Amino acid sequence: MAEHETDSIKSDKEAIYDTLASQMEALLDGETDAIANMGNFCAAIHDAFDFHWTGFYLVNKDELVLGPFQGPVACTRITRGKGVCGTSWETNSVLNVPDVEAFPGHIACSPYSRSELVLPFRKEKEVLGVLDIDSSELAAFSEVDIAGMQKLLTILESHL
Ligand code: SME
Repeated sequence: MAEHETDSIKSDKEAIYDTLASQMEALLDGETDAIANMGNFCAAIHDAFDFHWTGFYLVNKDELVLGPFQGPVACTRITRGKGVCGTSWETNSVLNVPDVEAFPGHIACSPYSRSELVLPFRKEKEVLGVLDIDSSELAAFSEVDIAGMQKLLTILESHL
């Protein structure tokens, strides 16, 4: 869908991201606990878009360890450089994977995951972890999602 996103779907999605950004500011306002904030953050996103899985993996030495999430049970630890999440961390870059089966080394936590978007988040330029979003549809994520999620992560980063 991402490649062929119509203007109306695009503007609908942008509107959802705008609403989420205001909601996120209110949800996180005044709370300094990182786990509480990450928990509400992924719950709000998961509810808004009905993704298959929405959650965090957090840097712990040379691994990512599962953090707050919404959705089915998932792999607990991911080595740096492995899978989509470990690659996003190692390369310090956003990865939009339209077909997870075409990504070499993809770690399949669920057979229902078809596409995946992974974004690093940071504190003072250091990567603290990644936000991982899985969809049961192929090519679910577009530039609108990347921009929207990055804006939301900027709000989270100021509350960690
Ligand atoms: N697919 C991810 C693993 C995490 S789950 O999708 C929740 C990866 O390849 O890193």
